[in-house]
Amino acid sequence: MAIWVRVASVDDLKDQNPFLAVLHHREIALYRAKDRYYATDDLCSHAEASLSEGDLKGYVIHCPRHGGQFDIRTGEAKHFPAYAPIQTYPVKTDGSEIFIELEEE
Ligand code: FES
Repeated sequence: MAIWVRVASVDDLKDQNPFLAVLHHREIALYRAKDRYYATDDLCSHAEASLSEGDLKGYVIHCPRHGGQFDIRTGEAKHFPAYAPIQTYPVKTDGSEIFIELEEE
């Protein structure tokens, strides 16, 4: 069953840098692009790197370790050396709070 979990406040993303949220034993990268919010797994699919430490350009997060790129809307890998997708999560806001939808473990 899926549940909505609060992960951050919109203030956490006001400077438009990616934000790392740790919850339910998962690390989630949150992004703000064109005043909408997106969420993906924080771990790059190529190797050990935190995507929330990368640079967001438009809808594309650039991995800080080897420069792999992912579309934050779909998780699709867009640039070598990353080729496997990353998981994305549905996001909603309620007032100033940001929630993502997770499957209960
Ligand atoms: S760890 Fe992300 S591209 Fe290599």
